[in-house]
Amino acid sequence: MEANIPDSETQVARVDAAIAAVRAVTDSKFKIGLILGTGLGKLAERIDVQHTISYDSIPHFPVSTVESHQGRLLIGTLEGVSVICMQGRMHVYEGYSAREATFPIRVVAGLGIECLLITTACGGMNPAYRRGDLMLLSDHINLQGVNPLVGPNVDAWGPRFPDMSEPYDVALRARAKQIADEHAIKLHEGVYVSVLGPNLETKAEYRFLRAIGADVVGMSTTPEVTVARHMDLRVMAIGVITDECFPDTLQPVTLEEVLEAAGIAEPKLTTIMSEVVVSLDEDQSR
Ligand code: HPA
Repeated sequence: MEANIPDSETQVARVDAAIAAVRAVTDSKFKIGLILGTGLGKLAERIDVQHTISYDSIPHFPVSTVESHQGRLLIGTLEGVSVICMQGRMHVYEGYSAREATFPIRVVAGLGIECLLITTACGGMNPAYRRGDLMLLSDHINLQGVNPLVGPNVDAWGPRFPDMSEPYDVALRARAKQIADEHAIKLHEGVYVSVLGPNLETKAEYRFLRAIGADVVGMSTTPEVTVARHMDLRVMAIGVITDECFPDTLQPVTLEEVLEAAGIAEPKLTTIMSEVVVSLDEDQSR
């Protein structure tokens, strides 16, 4: 928890300063934001990048401390569609408050995005899931014990008590499933539970997380989705199962294995994400 939660005016001023810093570099318009998770930075190679802005050059932007995350904003086109992409995200386990970790979401929303497409690494607890599989998030459980909306509410951004009955956009999910079908890509759909981390879970914790209704577990995503929904952005998120979290046969996992599984899943993820982006653009030009 931050020692001093900034008041509404300060929050707005910080976000505005960050927006101005990006706008000083480009006046590009983009309606779609992307967040690339651990080991999932390759989608960025498909972006025809016009501007790269390092997080540390943007005022008040938190800087990702995780080695597998590059910390920069990419602005360019994916399959000809304008996008802004966060290559690298911040996690609460790095020591940021949930509010600080989601500052970039306020900024990309202020820059004009309407849809936020998220990729995330996660551990599979549903016994039908395998390492390297993909799962579309249909819902989530926030067990991080923190919430990015704690503190003074900025009414201009969203309501004090935002609705969470359908955080993941139904039409975008249908789109993703259709694209997956067309490419014969297996795409599970299920519930993501977020924990604080940074340690992986014990067997007893996996049993508990599975029993409360989660299919996968990870250390991110719910703060970003909460903030995005606070601002009424449309959200879609796809998790890559980087390790199997079956309590009865649990094996130790290394970051290398997580990154390897992310690498296996990456082409499938890239196909789905880029086609969703194209279909969103077609909607808008209709
Ligand atoms: N828990 C277990 N396995 C994981 C996680 C997690 O939070 N993230 C990626 N693999």
